[in-house]
Amino acid sequence: MSANFENRAGASQGDGSSVGPDAADERAADAVQAGEAPDPELERALEFPSLILVRHPLVRHKVTLLRSRATPTKIFKELVEEIAMLMAYEATADLSLASVDVETPLERARGVHVAGKKLTLVPILRAGLGMVEGILRLVPSARVGHIGLYRDHDSLQPVDYYFKIPGDVAERDFLLLDPMLATGGSAVAAVNSLKKAGAQRIRFLCVVAAPEGARKLAAAHPDVTIYAAALDRALNEHGYIMPGLGDAGDRLFGTR
Ligand code: PRP
Ligand code: URA
Repeated sequence: MSANFENRAGASQGDGSSVGPDAADERAADAVQAGEAPDPELERALEFPSLILVRHPLVRHKVTLLRSRATPTKIFKELVEEIAMLMAYEATADLSLASVDVETPLERARGVHVAGKKLTLVPILRAGLGMVEGILRLVPSARVGHIGLYRDHDSLQPVDYYFKIPGDVAERDFLLLDPMLATGGSAVAAVNSLKKAGAQRIRFLCVVAAPEGARKLAAAHPDVTIYAAALDRALNEHGYIMPGLGDAGDRLFGTR
């Protein structure tokens, strides 16, 4: 699997549900030609060659529910899990397979199984935890590491407090998880820590990204493909993503 877990910058899935920069470019041009107003989210995405927007209709529907201030904690948690699962489907599209034989009730058949046993999920605490269960439902054999970081309220700088990942680091493919990519400070710090520990192949999955955070992460780590379900307008003066969905950790764990 590891041979396939390359930077997927510019990749588009061909089914129209995910867009890398090439597909975003084409769609923006189509909209202009058709006399439609260009989609601002797609226009923003053009700036980021290492970002893949996961725009499957189910994902977009669920992100809209997630944004609503009326969505209660229980549903919020379920939606984050479901969105993470759908995003992981996309982010694992190039997992390599090995042939296996299987006995059906009627005869022996040729089948395949996922060859990689080293897929590793690394949630950034706390809010990244909300993405783990959904992905584990798809890839139950994945290992799980943890990175503890919080963003200082005043300076907006990440403060780290925990780091634990499985061994054989260089052989693993990492999916780093955090629903929010705001200033990008936390994501950059988490990737720095993973690389310092020897990680070579990292993909970052977030639900909502701000252009500021995508810019910072892409500049610091251009080899890390960013998967986002939404690329929002901007940060506000308190470092919150606009329109965003508020404080993901508080909404997931009911702490406010
Ligand atoms: C949130 C979020 C990210 C970080 C993003 O966590 O889950 O980790 O902020 O912000 P940044 O891109 O500006 O660094 P927070 O610090 O609120 O911690 P929590 O998950 O423990 O609530
Ligand atoms: N962290 C969050 O949880 N939400 C934001 O909008 C920004 C950082």
